Amino acid sequence: MSATISRILRYTLNERILHWVAGLTYVYQLLTGLAFYSPHLFWIAVLLGGGPTSRFWHPWAGLLFTVALFWMLEVWRNDMRITDADRAWAKAMPHYIRNEDEDLPPIDRFNYGQKYFFWVMLWAGIIMLISGLALWFPERIPWNLRYLRYLAILLHVSAALISIGAFIIHVYMGTAMVRGGFTSIIRGEVTPAWAKMHHRLWYNRIMGAAPTRR
Ligand code: HEM
Repeated sequence: MSATISRILRYTLNERILHWVAGLTYVYQLLTGLAFYSPHLFWIAVLLGGGPTSRFWHPWAGLLFTVALFWMLEVWRNDMRITDADRAWAKAMPHYIRNEDEDLPPIDRFNYGQKYFFWVMLWAGIIMLISGLALWFPERIPWNLRYLRYLAILLHVSAALISIGAFIIHVYMGTAMVRGGFTSIIRGEVTPAWAKMHHRLWYNRIMGAAPTRR
């Protein structure tokens, strides 16, 4: 008699570490960035060790965040490709909003929204990196090209605001809306019922070829 499987591995330890390197460095950048954005929010920098400390670590956290993003790209490149199954799922999005998951077309390891979030964060991260380097070393920009500094500020803030919108949705979906998601990014595991309900193509695929735990 075959034993029933009670847990499926959704995120390896490597994936969880890289996720939390991205998560923690992003939150640090978010908090210190908000402190620099408005004098009303400067108290955040004070709580985080003072203005100069926050100013020193903000770009370093940004570099580490970008490393984590490219590491994610390396690990999840295939999982994040948008497929016809995702496009069919996106068309049926009203069912998702109304919590009618059983009426949604089956999807693989990540859904359309999760993939979209990843690409938004990657591109926002690239723009923040390039514009951030210009803000980190402004003296390297010749005076006759000084408009590039203003462009860098505009791009840095715009990309940051877009990423903040995406981040809020991501955290809300991962922690409050989709139950079982948060434990998966901490402990790595989900129940077969969760996998079948939210990512049926992935469930079918891995149950055929089995990196499972009991
Ligand atoms: C710090 C707060 C964060 C929390 C609480 C959080 C939570 C989660 C959760 C619960 C999952 C698993 C979702 C599932 O498998 O259904 C997840 C996955 C993921 N997280 Fe985060 N995350 C955070 C920050 C970030 C940041 C800053 C990034 C930046 C790239 C990120 C990128 C991802 C990606 C790409 C996935 C896989 C696809 C997805 O579920 O969207 N996370 N996260």
